[in-house]
Amino acid sequence: MNINVAILGSTGYTGAELIRLIDNHPHFNITHLGAHSQAGKKVSDILPGIASHLGDKTLAKADAPLADDIALVFAALPHGAAAQSVKTALDANKRVIDLSADFRHQNTNTYQAAYDIEHPYPDMLTDTTYGLSEWARHKVRQARWVANPGCYPTSVLLPLIPLLQADVLSNHSIIIDSKSGTSGAGRSLKTDLLYCEINEGLTAYGLPKHRHVWEMEEWAKIFGKQSIHIRFVPHILPMNRGMLSTLHLTGKNTETWHKLLSQAYANEPFVRVLPAGQLPTTKAVAGSNRCDIGIQLLNEHEAVVVSCIDNLLKGASGQALQNANIMFGFEETLGLSAHAQWP
Ligand SMILES: NC(=O)c1ccc[n+]([C@@H]2O[C@H](COP(=O)([O-])OP(=O)(O)OC[C@H]3O[C@@H](n4cnc5c(N)ncnc54)[C@H](OP(=O)(O)O)[C@@H]3O)[C@@H](O)[C@H]2O)c1
Repeated sequence: MNINVAILGSTGYTGAELIRLIDNHPHFNITHLGAHSQAGKKVSDILPGIASHLGDKTLAKADAPLADDIALVFAALPHGAAAQSVKTALDANKRVIDLSADFRHQNTNTYQAAYDIEHPYPDMLTDTTYGLSEWARHKVRQARWVANPGCYPTSVLLPLIPLLQADVLSNHSIIIDSKSGTSGAGRSLKTDLLYCEINEGLTAYGLPKHRHVWEMEEWAKIFGKQSIHIRFVPHILPMNRGMLSTLHLTGKNTETWHKLLSQAYANEPFVRVLPAGQLPTTKAVAGSNRCDIGIQLLNEHEAVVVSCIDNLLKGASGQALQNANIMFGFEETLGLSAHAQWP
């Protein structure tokens, strides 16, 4: 079976990663590559890593109509811009995976609080499917469009949900410290991301409340059935890709937590719970769609849980393709079986 797909925002970091992944997929076939400021240029002039069969294509304008034979659209656009493209694609009867935050919330209040803009299609939010694949398969399978989770929320929710579901946390105010590679901020020019500003340094940002906190709290409550308050401090690191989140947790029966996590993900191809006491590293997931989770008990009431993902894969384009596989009834791992790059 061949399914034609469009990638909107194909010149950005997540868009380029989608091209790399999907071009290896046995059933998805890229026929449309959209751009914004780079529209009209040759793909390989903007993305030199893309081989000639796609590199010779011309980048379409952001609002160019999508051919009738395109069944699936990946929208890898900035929030705010994505909503209109998603709506247009849905109106043209396409299915959509949206990598932006535009449909990640269930009501306008949280969206507006997090992003400080008005949502153009507030009614659509009540129908949104939040594509945290491991916890939302049944919904993704039926969905016309999927809101792909943010990178920080993916790295936090995967380790947190099984512990919330088991009701073992006593303190529902959780401190989370995360580090992200620079590609997490996208490809557009920003002075504070210039080489001299970022290299050999480490910066905290996003305080007092990073926009992903609303997303984490909202979906922790839905999947984990518990209301929590998250104090979240993200940091940006001078590495291209990778994300590490450290969750400082207090509760009961900490000696059971490793088993809880292991059981929750025992049959998951992309979530690996490391042996007790072993902590994950970004190097071991870079280039793969995996989330590695490690737990270190501190005493009978406290533990530190650490998770690592590649922000561009499980944190964005990898999870987007995982969701597309689910949507179209394919093996979830199709096009995603690559191990991490090493070294
Ligand atoms: N980077 C990550 O790790 C990551 C992880 C999870 C989710 N996300 C989300 O995924 C989306 C894409 O992120 P990214 O990092 O790939 O961004 P990016 O590198 O900045 O790329 C943005 C893309 O959108 C296009 N674009 C910019 N402004 C536009 C507009 N007004 N209308 C239509 N297209 C426009 C750009 O086209 P031109 O190049 O032609 O201007 C480019 O192709 C964002 O919503 C981001 O929050 C990113």
